[in-house]
Amino acid sequence: MAKMWAGRTSGATDSLADDFNSSIHFDYRMYREDITGSMAHAAMLGKQGIITADEAEKLIAGLSDILADIDEGKLEFDMSCEDIHMFIEQVLTERLGDIGKKLHTARSRNDQVALDLRMYLRNEVDEILSLLRELVEIVCNRAEEHKATIVPGYTHLQRAQPITFGHHLMAYAMMFLRDIDRFLDCKKRINVSPIGSCALAGTTYETDRIFEAEKLGFDNIAMNSIDGVSDRDFCLDFMAAVSTLMMHLSRLSEEIILWSSWEFKFIELSDAYTTGSSIMPQKKNSDMAELIRGKTGRVYGDLLALLTTLKGLPLAYNKDMQEDKESVFDAVDTVKMALPVMSGMLKTMTVLKDNMKAAAQKGFINATDMADYLVKKGMPFRSAYKISGQLVAECISRGCVLETLPLEVYKEKSDLFGDDIYEVIDLEVCVNKRISLGGTCVASVEKQIEFVRNSL
Ligand code: ARG
Repeated sequence: MAKMWAGRTSGATDSLADDFNSSIHFDYRMYREDITGSMAHAAMLGKQGIITADEAEKLIAGLSDILADIDEGKLEFDMSCEDIHMFIEQVLTERLGDIGKKLHTARSRNDQVALDLRMYLRNEVDEILSLLRELVEIVCNRAEEHKATIVPGYTHLQRAQPITFGHHLMAYAMMFLRDIDRFLDCKKRINVSPIGSCALAGTTYETDRIFEAEKLGFDNIAMNSIDGVSDRDFCLDFMAAVSTLMMHLSRLSEEIILWSSWEFKFIELSDAYTTGSSIMPQKKNSDMAELIRGKTGRVYGDLLALLTTLKGLPLAYNKDMQEDKESVFDAVDTVKMALPVMSGMLKTMTVLKDNMKAAAQKGFINATDMADYLVKKGMPFRSAYKISGQLVAECISRGCVLETLPLEVYKEKSDLFGDDIYEVIDLEVCVNKRISLGGTCVASVEKQIEFVRNSL
């Protein structure tokens, strides 16, 4: 079929070149935005007298029919079209004749595609935000359930100090809260209307960009038409936000994988979120967590791909920019799958409190509390630290723990030790004495949960 843009050229394009050039096989997903944008454009053209009111009405009705037909499956995308914009215009013209050909007055595909992508992305951001909020709620619920469940806290993956599992989970809630903030922030820069920038220089027609932007729910308009068609920062902001979120999901996934191993056995994932092995009958693998971790790399790739595409691109529109959409779509699809999988996995996992407690009892994670005990009785911290270390070594050689080490042994090291040492090194006491703001005691975890729930 003759190209809609065939004017200067008369020779047919090579079919391989057509395939290479075409984007309809992925940009068809913006059909709704494309049509809604065109309806606002037709309304603006009519209001400004650039086309007649009657023509505007016919265009709007025709576009609305096309939208309904696609939604109802009555109209199929013609994959031989160059892109979604050409397809819609072609159908409109087939249906309305010459009036259809008036739609593209005072615009270009350059501002049209930027418009479509922004409208598409702001919707997706809203969906991602609602999935994220659901996840945060689940994290808060599980944290509340386990606000007093003792587990070792780690540094260097070595048992460090006792914490509650609720406290550990709430650390993730804080990360996700910041992710929510990042998406809200990037939405501000997405929701800027480029339409009316036209090819790059604006137009000689008396258009009303503000009317069009307001009709489409934009907060602002691009104030420079060259920037309007060239800017893809909003895609980068979005993919950077998705990358950070995926990084958080990946860290949590890694912990879930560790916790479900026999070596930890702190949690048991529901069968709904695990797989078996085709050869080893005993296996229960945490594939979902592994995939979230794995797909994080893929999203970083999406961000890097677009950064690289844009680097060194001269102003204004270049066809390179058609490459923006697959990266954005892939990041959208990936995070929209990862979030509900993580939510479901957390919601249904069984927390094995006894195993957590047993691990907490084995790692001398109350040694800091023992040192603090001596400090509170007047010993300088460094000396107290040394004695505590020696007592840990003593336990290791005797094969016992601080809780079962006899008082005489304590007294040999310092006569500041009394019977009350056993109470101070009790794990529950250790946890509940950490009353500092943001600390691990039950009351503090309760406050964190309240803070996060209020922020949602
Ligand atoms: N399919 C194109 C894209 O995604 C639409 C814009 C085409 N503009 C042009 N001047 N060829 O970028």
